[in-house]
Amino acid sequence: MENRAHNDALLEAADAFARERLSEKRYGHTVRVADTAESLARKHGLDPARTRLAALLHDAARETEPDEFLRLAKEWNLSVGEPERQSAKLLHGPVAAELARRELGVANEEVLEAIRVHTVGEAEMGPLALALYVADKIEPARDYPSVDRLRRLAHEDLRQAATEALRRVMAYNAGRGRLVHPSSREMLEWLEEA
Ligand SMILES: [Fe+2]
Ligand SMILES: [Fe+2]
Repeated sequence: MENRAHNDALLEAADAFARERLSEKRYGHTVRVADTAESLARKHGLDPARTRLAALLHDAARETEPDEFLRLAKEWNLSVGEPERQSAKLLHGPVAAELARRELGVANEEVLEAIRVHTVGEAEMGPLALALYVADKIEPARDYPSVDRLRRLAHEDLRQAATEALRRVMAYNAGRGRLVHPSSREMLEWLEEA
């Protein structure tokens, strides 16, 4: 980003925005994801401030009520498929991206994309979105059998880490009888192509 003071002010506003809208627990997750995403950005040559900004805002809409998600999605013309109708909280990424744009004036498309797609994924997402996707799965409080392997992998190869994280999420959802979101399937196909 071009202007350091502007950056710092925006990061501060994003932090306050998340803190205001989230429980202490979820705000804690948000800050850990921001720290993790920023460190992945530095490691992989991405813009650390932009990556941190996306991470600070990624779950800002997570505590919105289902009816409100659907109302906002309609008002803002967000895409709502069968999975979103069944589970409105899948809209928390797209809704948070709109809030970032409308309420904080975030204009950077990479940042908005990363926020928008962080839940169900998307084929051909950019590196910043990949970094956030992975950071969300490996922040220090995450605890599952393969998480340490994934943490190591994330510092070596973001794309490979995203592939494994996504496979794990899909297996977990399948085990709970949940449908795989088409965007997740498309993301996995895209990751496996390269
Ligand atoms: Fe989320
Ligand atoms: Fe999250």
